[in-house]
Amino acid sequence: MNEKQRLESQQINRENSTDVKSDTNDNLDRLKKLSSDELISKYFQTTYEPPNLKKARSRRKKDVDIHYDFDIPLEMKAVGKGKKFLIRTYGCQMNEHDTEIMAGILTNMGYQSTEDTNDADIILLNTCAIRENAENKVFGEIGHLKPLKLEKPDLIIGVCGCMSQEESVVNRILKKHPFVDLIFGTHNIHRLPTLINEAMFGKEMVVEVWSKEGDIIENLPKVRNGKIKAWVNIMYGCDKFCTYCIVPYTRGKERSRRPEDIIQEVRHLAAQGYKEVTLLGQNVNAYGKDLDIDYGLGDLMNEISKIDIPRIRFTTSHPRDFDDRLIEVLAQGGNLLDHIHLPVQSGSSDILRVMARRYTREDYLDLVKKIRQAMPNATLTTDIIVGFPNETDEQFEETMTLMEEVGFESAYTFIYSPREGTPAAKWEDNIPMEVKKARLQRLNELVNKQSREAMKKYEGKIVKVLVEGESKKDPDVLSGYTERNKLVNFKGPKSIIGNIVEVKVTNAKTWTLDGELIEEAIEVK
Ligand code: SAH
Ligand code: SF4
Ligand code: F3S
Repeated sequence: MNEKQRLESQQINRENSTDVKSDTNDNLDRLKKLSSDELISKYFQTTYEPPNLKKARSRRKKDVDIHYDFDIPLEMKAVGKGKKFLIRTYGCQMNEHDTEIMAGILTNMGYQSTEDTNDADIILLNTCAIRENAENKVFGEIGHLKPLKLEKPDLIIGVCGCMSQEESVVNRILKKHPFVDLIFGTHNIHRLPTLINEAMFGKEMVVEVWSKEGDIIENLPKVRNGKIKAWVNIMYGCDKFCTYCIVPYTRGKERSRRPEDIIQEVRHLAAQGYKEVTLLGQNVNAYGKDLDIDYGLGDLMNEISKIDIPRIRFTTSHPRDFDDRLIEVLAQGGNLLDHIHLPVQSGSSDILRVMARRYTREDYLDLVKKIRQAMPNATLTTDIIVGFPNETDEQFEETMTLMEEVGFESAYTFIYSPREGTPAAKWEDNIPMEVKKARLQRLNELVNKQSREAMKKYEGKIVKVLVEGESKKDPDVLSGYTERNKLVNFKGPKSIIGNIVEVKVTNAKTWTLDGELIEEAIEVK
């Protein structure tokens, strides 16, 4: 990045700590006088591009650069010595994994992690933009951090993740929360050492958001959360542009990692003793489409199935690209688990069309049939949005009937939330909140019922559980997940944490199973 690209400065004077408050207020007054356009040109590095479907289609033609040369500049390797960092993570697994990468970078700069806000020298909020309430939570948290910043002017507060890719969010932080030191986007994580350095030694708020589509940076350090389960990105971004969704704008274009890089990472995790790997992408079924070889998710899963690691999962699937090759590979079983999270969003073909999901109710049901034929015991779960613009009662009923017809064992359900810049946000959000809430409640009752019924079937059965640790509610109880992702609580010695053991289910609840350990300390595969 050259100096021209650098953002112009904003005068938050941190040199004299007692003046922070008044400087912050001066700054605020000055910023309030700027128009929105002035703010954008002042602080956004490249021109902000509103969502554009035409452009999205041409995305694939552009080259993706893969970088294998990440390094922390020598002079920054000790910047964090004796200091602590705290990262708050919101949103999906993608963000959780980005947090592991940022923790890796910070650890390599000498920082140690802390859970205590008061003890931290740097606090990063890794944010999610998927729905309005996700954003509100973050703005609430930013507000809570202000007194701490005024008390500790050397504290660095950073906002990163999907919200920082949004123009309106950056504007709002600049205007209303000028005590924030650092804003950086999802494509700028590898720049963290330099950005921290600038925030520390410069006088101005550091903003670095690239609205360009994103490269792949391969060799970033990671401090993984635990030694049992690991996430592995197989691709980044999304080109599906569902009309309600902000992700294609916050995460950039679809770009796949090279198979050899993924396989090497999974092999390495297996060698380190990890028991489960979840392959990550917003739309993993599009894996490989942008590569210069004829290679898809089915091929990748097939190769990964040969690696000696007991459990492989993948998320999230998009029904549109779920092809026969993948079904064939998944049906081989082995370490490929037959739990498929397959977001449907709506049971109405008309709503699906305006959502630009590019499949109909019938297409979805056909795909489910195919999956069930190849994997009779497969567990299916889904995501559903209620109250999309113009959704009629009848269309919502179609979602209810689809839920039953497929027999989803659980579902994440959401009230539609307009996201600025997406096509759907231009349409009137015309379903009253009471109606949206009533639909959500009815749907959730059905989801609970189906989950309860699915869980009931496990009573008396023996399941394989990857023991993750003590249960959150009771330290005398261990908990872990079955192959089909059901949480099981049971008593056993702590020595079996990290092993896969057999547990007999004694009692099924709506969302969890209680059981008894069958064979102590004997690991099964
Ligand atoms: N890539 C995944 C899901 C990403 S976001 C997929 O395509 O399935 C996770 C879920 O959030 C989505 O499946 C959708 O159900 C929900 N979601 C996304 N945008 C939303 C919005 N604007 N309002 C409400 N829910 C939304
Ligand atoms: Fe969003 Fe998923 Fe659609 Fe991509 S496929 S636009 S992430 S809902
Ligand atoms: Fe949220 Fe970004 Fe994930 S918007 S759901 S954190 S990709």
